[in-house]
Amino acid sequence: MTGTEYIAQIDTLLQSLQVDAGLSGAELQRKYLGTNGAFTTLAKQITEIEPADRKLAGKPLNELKNALAVAIATAAKKKSEQTWIDLSLPGERPSIGHIHPISQAMAEITAIFTSIGFTRVRYPEVDWDWYVFESLNMPPDHPARDEWETFFVDREPDAEKGQMVLTTHTSNGQVREMERLGEPPIRMINIARCYRRQQDVTHTQMFHQFEGLVVDKGITIQHLKGTLDYFAEQFYGPGTKSRIRPFHFQFTEPSFEVDFSCHICKGTGEITAEQGSEKCRFCKSGWHEVGGCGMVHPNVLKAGGIDPEVYTGFAFGWGIERTYTLKEGLAIDDIRLLYSGDLQFLEQF
Ligand code: FA5
Repeated sequence: MTGTEYIAQIDTLLQSLQVDAGLSGAELQRKYLGTNGAFTTLAKQITEIEPADRKLAGKPLNELKNALAVAIATAAKKKSEQTWIDLSLPGERPSIGHIHPISQAMAEITAIFTSIGFTRVRYPEVDWDWYVFESLNMPPDHPARDEWETFFVDREPDAEKGQMVLTTHTSNGQVREMERLGEPPIRMINIARCYRRQQDVTHTQMFHQFEGLVVDKGITIQHLKGTLDYFAEQFYGPGTKSRIRPFHFQFTEPSFEVDFSCHICKGTGEITAEQGSEKCRFCKSGWHEVGGCGMVHPNVLKAGGIDPEVYTGFAFGWGIERTYTLKEGLAIDDIRLLYSGDLQFLEQF
């Protein structure tokens, strides 16, 4: 290498040092003076210059070294000025998360039912066909099964309990609870995840239900209605009413759908203002449907080893997402938001 070529490389490094003015002292140190740094490499190459030219190159190389030292010292000083801390300032609070709204709803629902003698239980969320369907009076090939948008687990069916499925409802807990206790009284609240092949503004593939089951001597629809009214007042606030409408489920007889009165129009279906009245846009009818209920079918009691001639019972099963989003002040019109992971949405609760 000639002396001129070498000096040209020194100039290039000087220019690059100017471009790197924004780097920190440590970064400059690493880039130029590290083991394979640009300056270190260039300094080693001085031996490759023809001996007559070496003297010429020594001076500019020294100048580059000084420029580097100044640049590193300046960068380090800038950093120490930036990181000056006023210890008298109040600290920054670390952000603290909170319990997910659905977990909050579960805790509230559990508290309401346990305060009137129910026991919270949990049963499998991936369960045998027997508990999800067959023991609930839905034998294989029964047309009622078509309504359940089931996910099946791809494994060998059990000879007695059939296929394994992702639970479509918490009603799988009914016969399991009868088996667990053997003899009534039963006052169960089963809260669990459920799965169906559905996805739209009011349905998600994974959702939660809570299932109530009461079995004892002399249990009637009045006990069921009283429990619904109690829940309505506790969860939605004083004055909220429950309503049951005839329906069909294979595992209850008679069966009903459960509605709660709308808190916006107070169950009237109309909003009255000075200019006149208009239909309530939130409920359209004065009522919101949350799920099903009914008197436990004798075949279900038998499947759980309980004599239907001696005992009767009621059961109900509602979606937690649905029940929760109807609460006053929430106005969540798309339940998928609850599982979106969107902090802007979740931090409001
Ligand atoms: C049932 O699941 C019955 N097991 C309820 C029952 C229990 C009746 C005990 C009688 C006795 P249904 O399919 O209607 O019923 O579902 C009940 C509620 O679960 C619905 O009203 C809704 O609130 C909620 N739900 C159902 N599917 C979904 C879904 N994909 N996403 C969110 N919520 C759902």
